[in-house]
Amino acid sequence: MDKSLLLFVGISCFLLINGVKVEDCDFLTETDNTRFQLFQASVPEEQPYRTAYHFQPPKNWLNDPNGPMYYNGVYHLFYQHNPHSALFGDGMVWAHSASYDLINWFSLDHALVPSEPFDAISCWSGSVTILPGNKPVILYTGIDANYNQVQNLATPKNRSDPLLIEWVKYSGNPLMTPPKGVDGDNFRDPTTAWQGPDGTWKVVIGSYSNNQGMAILYQSEDFVHWTMHRDPLYSASKTQMWECPDFFPVSINSTNGVDTSVANPSVRHVMKASVNPHDYYIVGTYDTEQEKFLPDADFTGTSSDLRIDYGKFYASKTFFDSKRNRRILWAWVNESDSSEDDIQKGWSGLQAIPRQIWLDRAGKQLVQWPVEELNNLRDNQVYVYGKQLESGSVFEVSGITASQADIEINFELPKLEEAEFMDTILVDPQLICDRQDSSVTGKYGPFGLLALATKDLTEQTAVFFRVFRGDNRYVVLMCSEQKRSSLRDNLDKTTYGAFVDIDPRQEMVSLRTLIDHSIIESFGGEGRTCITARVYPKLAINNEAHLFAFNNGTLSVTISSLHAWSMNKARVN
Ligand code: FRU
Repeated sequence: MDKSLLLFVGISCFLLINGVKVEDCDFLTETDNTRFQLFQASVPEEQPYRTAYHFQPPKNWLNDPNGPMYYNGVYHLFYQHNPHSALFGDGMVWAHSASYDLINWFSLDHALVPSEPFDAISCWSGSVTILPGNKPVILYTGIDANYNQVQNLATPKNRSDPLLIEWVKYSGNPLMTPPKGVDGDNFRDPTTAWQGPDGTWKVVIGSYSNNQGMAILYQSEDFVHWTMHRDPLYSASKTQMWECPDFFPVSINSTNGVDTSVANPSVRHVMKASVNPHDYYIVGTYDTEQEKFLPDADFTGTSSDLRIDYGKFYASKTFFDSKRNRRILWAWVNESDSSEDDIQKGWSGLQAIPRQIWLDRAGKQLVQWPVEELNNLRDNQVYVYGKQLESGSVFEVSGITASQADIEINFELPKLEEAEFMDTILVDPQLICDRQDSSVTGKYGPFGLLALATKDLTEQTAVFFRVFRGDNRYVVLMCSEQKRSSLRDNLDKTTYGAFVDIDPRQEMVSLRTLIDHSIIESFGGEGRTCITARVYPKLAINNEAHLFAFNNGTLSVTISSLHAWSMNKARVN
């Protein structure tokens, strides 16, 4: 099937057919132009769920972020993409986009497409490592002609091209094949490699073997010849197949990020594993002599395991941004509608807004915050200070585009000692959010925001808190409830929930929420707990969407401050 694509690079524009440059736009015949129109027309005009400032391809399927990097002044994002369909399938490619600010993106030609015996079926996920001398290389999983997962190397054809458009697969691929005891379909997703104190390169590959999810460790002197280490860097019996592992250092006393090879007393290490359908992580120490990761606590297989995000959010991957000395996390946010809906929409999947991440001061968990470049999209602002929300009140935040907004809100709870008592936190927070939903009155809570709501509230997505008193401490619960977010059926309307590790005696209960037509990303406790949801209102779309703050607890709460902005549209692909 012909795949035609008009590509704009700087001021030039040319037509690509099946990845080959065919003609400059100036010379396009009328037929070519018509074909281009037809090609584009398969994404319907009426698109209430298409986002305005989240990353997505012009059409078709997207999943994992691959090989994000900052190189010679340009941010790159590769991503898993099915160029032939709005659904996942064989023939997955590394699609490629570039940006100067992580928010506005332009599409480039696909970087890797299936072409060789070692990736004949698909080019699956992987990472970029920037080798000494400023040399970026890709390690990715190929699905070979026998449907086995193997690890391959690719390098830029021309490193002086700042856009790194063309990539060349190493002729000696594959570099790694499934080792003994590992099934051919359980060996994938190489991480960014790091260099040990002795100069040796290390990389981990996600796997499942002997009833344990694991990160298999490989080492190399030259990045081409790799040997498997005797033991995995880490394995956990309470987990299934590890997809897209990520292993990286975080500074102990700073929000700054560090290069992936840093291993010294100023950092701790994070091991992230994507175990369908969530991204879990543990924090610990990396013993470079023994080649062991020693976490402070193991995965438990229960709801108390730390997650990067407690909503819909998967296959995340970080990179060190040397431009601003920070570590940035990308992740795939899947749809909550049906495959039929996706075919009709002509697309499926988003990337979450890139987040800066760092270690919390207490050293136990990560903190995440949308990259500050996002603030450049903020347009007209409304604010509210010192507004008391009585029991049962709903207050409209008007004056902004409620379907495309960014909100920061701080709640003050003046009578904390009157909070309800909760005798244990060994309960699944998601379950409490589901049972005690936003319509169930408590004492402190539910209070929060009603996003993408109709004026009469028949449709609404509630992002809210409940605060409980425990023995010598307070427990803050954060929920994102999709039960009433759409009058449509056949949607995944799961309610999400998690605890927020803050002491409401010391700090206000804060929430930042990014609303973008069909996605709501929420950051509680200044980024200590994050919940992302996909919603598809039937009525509360575009100008019909409203935003409210509400309090359905018996105790009143005060909005100490609320800032809300309409968001401008980003230029995305
Ligand atoms: C995670 C994943 C990876 C794989 C890729 C294929 O979502 O299943 O393990 O490499 O997607 O697209």
